Amino acid sequence: MVCKYAKLCFATGAGAAMFAQIIVRNLGGVSMKDILQELEDRRTVARAGGGARRVEAQHAKGKLTARERVELLLDEGSFEEFDMFVQHRCTDFGMEENRHPGDGVITGWGTINGRMVYVFSQDFTVLGGSVSETHAAKICKIMDMAIQNGAPVIGMNDSGGARIQEGVSSLAAYGEVFQRNILASGVVPQISLIMGPCAGGAVYSPAMTDFIFMVKDSSYMFVTGPDVVKTVTNEVVTAEELGGASTHTRKSSVADGASENDVELLAETRRLFDFLPLNNREKAPVRPFFDDPGRVEMSLDTLVPDNPNQPYDMKELILKIADEGDFFEIQKDFAGNIICGFIRLEGQTVGVVANQPMVLAGCLDIDASRKAARFVRFCDAFEIPILTLVDVPGFLPGTGQEYGGVIKHGAKLLFAYGEATVPKVTVLTRKTYGGAYVVMSSKHLRGDFNYAWPTAEVAVMGAKGAVEILYRSELGDKDRIAARVKEYEDRFANPFVAAEKGFIDEVIMPHSTRRRVARAFASLRGKKQANPWKKHDNIPL
Ligand code: HXC
Repeated sequence: MVCKYAKLCFATGAGAAMFAQIIVRNLGGVSMKDILQELEDRRTVARAGGGARRVEAQHAKGKLTARERVELLLDEGSFEEFDMFVQHRCTDFGMEENRHPGDGVITGWGTINGRMVYVFSQDFTVLGGSVSETHAAKICKIMDMAIQNGAPVIGMNDSGGARIQEGVSSLAAYGEVFQRNILASGVVPQISLIMGPCAGGAVYSPAMTDFIFMVKDSSYMFVTGPDVVKTVTNEVVTAEELGGASTHTRKSSVADGASENDVELLAETRRLFDFLPLNNREKAPVRPFFDDPGRVEMSLDTLVPDNPNQPYDMKELILKIADEGDFFEIQKDFAGNIICGFIRLEGQTVGVVANQPMVLAGCLDIDASRKAARFVRFCDAFEIPILTLVDVPGFLPGTGQEYGGVIKHGAKLLFAYGEATVPKVTVLTRKTYGGAYVVMSSKHLRGDFNYAWPTAEVAVMGAKGAVEILYRSELGDKDRIAARVKEYEDRFANPFVAAEKGFIDEVIMPHSTRRRVARAFASLRGKKQANPWKKHDNIPL
């Protein structure tokens, strides 16, 4: 018995003092109460993290502790912890004296509204949440279980990066986490919450997950920090400017959203989680709904303005289609010309992609194509049906776009829609011109239901542009050109030419859109479609 405790004390680094205590207990005849008390004592030490002073410092920065985050994210009392007593094995730089049970990360599983999820939460109060060999092994353990058991992984990142004292071992440890991010991709949803520092190569783990959300003012992500940037490029920039939430939600699009504080972020994550399936073999959960799927919205009949150049807010249509007007938007502060997010129809999750005429007239550009392509691929990977709302005058022209590779980036969205085998329902509200018409989940990319409002215009381009090309020699004659424009509009500024060819399945009344779309998705619940066998595709990256 004594020998067993000796091993435990020294292996876990609890040391001679605790061993001596246990011997005394044993000599005096240890009672069951003492044994149980010892477990409680050990748990108390582990739960204290880096100690009261560091916890206070964490709170002073407006941040919750790793444990508080887990408690708030998961259903009350549902958390089951793994590896609470794991400690690092490093003996360099005096590290044998600097051991903490748990080694700077809390891992385990629990539930969100009753559905299972694996979590890890880095504890900045323990060695700055830095990643050691054992710290990473704890993360890898829950990732392996998540892949095997088919439940999502949510990582709460708050770390100074690779544990400097461990050198290459910590780099190797990161590599192990990266490999699992890759294997888990498309198998279980992975969500990264950036709730403190996340720098250097460490950023590449969140980067490979499905969604990244940040906390404003208390989190940042960058590959090289402000000091290195200054040395190498002479740029002077703060950590917030370089990699804060506003940078990543507005400029880089690395992050999918940002919250005001930890509490808001955790609540929003629970909301998102409810839209998602647990894995790629299961459907998203069906939630109770209290909204008539046949609800008619007469106001939609006047949503599209008489003037074709006047914008309107596509979000209004999304909200009016969705059950209870509930919409979880992804990347709302980036590439506003396209809107992506989740709604429910008859309680079932649907991914929405919609052109937004209020921004850049709803044109597709590099940013919009990348944003929507990744979203479409997420939906397809996890069997989430896609609703596409189209009002797109084409791809944005300009050297900026061409030099930036709009050809390759636009192709991403085209490719994503074309390879997707989930149910796809498309509604054309107004303009849908040129290549963008084909890209936006057209019939030609295996759209299942392609509806158009009577206001839709399916054409190679707008009437004015078309006439200027077709009748260049008549450009000096204003009346003649006006007549040509009218002629072109009469022919193409409507959905009927496309409907005659079967490219549009039905021209529908705007007010009935929710009912039509809900019925379309209901009819597609048994859809089964497969692509030809391949190792994997070669999407234009
Ligand atoms: C070991 C670390 C650490 C690290 C922080 N700490 N980062 N210990 N390895 N990487 C420790 C500190 O020594 C300190 O311990 C405690 O954590 C809190 O750190 P502070 O510096 O006091 O906190 P703060 O002022 O808030 O600054 C946070 C910080 C800073 C900006 C993250 O700690 C920092 O710059 N750390 C180093 C970051 C870094 O260069 N990491 C390596 C990146 S490269 P005490 O005992 O005093 O409380 C990388 C490669 C990954 O990660 C590659 C993957 C392939």
